[in-house]
Amino acid sequence: MIAVGSDHGGYELKEPIIKYLMDRELEVKDFGAFDGENSVDYPDYGLAVAESIISGECKRGIIICGTGIGISIAANKVPGIRAALCTDCYMARMSREHNNANILALGSRVLGKGLALQIVETWLDTEFTGERHQKRLDKITGIEEKYIK
Ligand code: RB5
Repeated sequence: MIAVGSDHGGYELKEPIIKYLMDRELEVKDFGAFDGENSVDYPDYGLAVAESIISGECKRGIIICGTGIGISIAANKVPGIRAALCTDCYMARMSREHNNANILALGSRVLGKGLALQIVETWLDTEFTGERHQKRLDKITGIEEKYIK
């Protein structure tokens, strides 16, 4: 299951991404927002997607706001989340191979639809390479553990 969430600023891009995922016959859980007119707060949607991954309900997530910045900052506050804000396919590939990103963050006001869908495709189809990169992820987990009260 792929979790998808956006604020009002990301709504316009969320809809074609959900269509793309469904065309690939992937299961999708849509956490909203459900329109682009009403102003909402991106941390609420970043948190909902992040928690669905930590609980095991969803395997990976895609989050979208105007820039992708706010919603990725929010999601990354949840221990165990590695949300990567990507603006091209190289970043999307690296975020999986090296960082094992479990959330892709996108900016609806930054990317055109065509590039955004290519980024999603690259991100979904790239696996974590493990090995030397795992010890670096373990260090990130160590930072989380240091500050968890
Ligand atoms: C909402 O106007 C906008 O601030 C939000 O979508 C996002 O870009 C924040 O980082």
